[in-house]
Amino acid sequence: MLEFEGRTAIVTGAGRGMGRTHALLLASRGARVVINDLGGAMDGTGADAGPAQAVVDEIRAAGGTAVADTSSVATTEGAEAIVATAVEAFGGVDIVINNAGILTPHTFPDTGAEDLDRNLSVHLGGSFNVTRAAWPHLVKSPAARVVLTTSCALFGSPFLVAYGAAKGGLIGLGRNLAGAGAEHGIKVNLIAPYAKTRMADPDIDVNEGARTEVVADEGPTVFDRLLPENISAVVAFLAHESCELTGEVLSCGGGRVARIFFAETQGYGKADVTPEDIAANIGQICDERDYYVPEDITVYTTFFMERVPEPASV
Ligand SMILES: NC(=O)c1ccc[n+]([C@@H]2O[C@H](COP(=O)([O-])OP(=O)(O)OC[C@H]3O[C@@H](n4cnc5c(N)ncnc54)[C@H](O)[C@@H]3O)[C@@H](O)[C@H]2O)c1
Repeated sequence: MLEFEGRTAIVTGAGRGMGRTHALLLASRGARVVINDLGGAMDGTGADAGPAQAVVDEIRAAGGTAVADTSSVATTEGAEAIVATAVEAFGGVDIVINNAGILTPHTFPDTGAEDLDRNLSVHLGGSFNVTRAAWPHLVKSPAARVVLTTSCALFGSPFLVAYGAAKGGLIGLGRNLAGAGAEHGIKVNLIAPYAKTRMADPDIDVNEGARTEVVADEGPTVFDRLLPENISAVVAFLAHESCELTGEVLSCGGGRVARIFFAETQGYGKADVTPEDIAANIGQICDERDYYVPEDITVYTTFFMERVPEPASV
């Protein structure tokens, strides 16, 4: 059994949805948990101290250890306050679960610069800020693990341009943090979850796929089986000191877990390439056979340089 005795975890956005079940699972396995939640509406507006405190009460009632923090992850001051809460209450930080998120489902171009700012500052900025504030403590921990929460929105949707841009940015953040953490033994991974929370409500246009399932199925629907607890099992695995994975993205929902990865095709090359050459060879350029999965930029650069075409005259 994967235990967290003696470890301190920060879970952002832990007052509701998946963050709540991540925190409950870690606490039930011995972690001391900072329950961070601003408590706002789904689009990020407003604030309420109630959700964070309710989860703290739930953990304490079950015999666990937790403290509440209602700072926003979206500012450096908020992130520093969250980490200060952990250090004051528990003396350090071993695990950061970046889960806090908002949803602003608007079509493009109705979605405005304000939507983009808000999504970038909560998802991308929040994960950057909290991980950065916790980093000096993670470096000192013998079991430092960071989890970031991306989304299948990065695959594309007409409703999620601002949200998907921020979630896509998290992949770059996570992979680069994995690089920064390597020398300190800090493992950094991402989840792309799908779970029945207020964010996945089938009545929201962006979730029309889930709505179709609800209508098509009789009895408990596929949507009903997307339990937040299933996602927390993946988070606990990634947060545990035994997890050696780093820089990876795990897709998860309803108990299914899979790896999402970035790959490059073998491509096509000619030193004096013309637009016509590209048009004529687009099939080969996009051919997924023998695709290559880069480990990091150093390994990738070797792969890339070896394939830079020689000039025809040489
Ligand atoms: N539900 C899904 O199917 C799904 C799919 C893909 C990704 N996600 C991501 O999973 C994470 C959790 O989402 P959820 O579905 O549990 O949603 P949720 O709305 O139930 O929970 C998110 C929590 O984050 C908190 N939060 C928002 N902004 C904050 C801020 N600035 N500082 C601190 N707390 C803040 C909210 O108050 C809320 O309690 C989010 O990052 C979301 O984008 C969810």
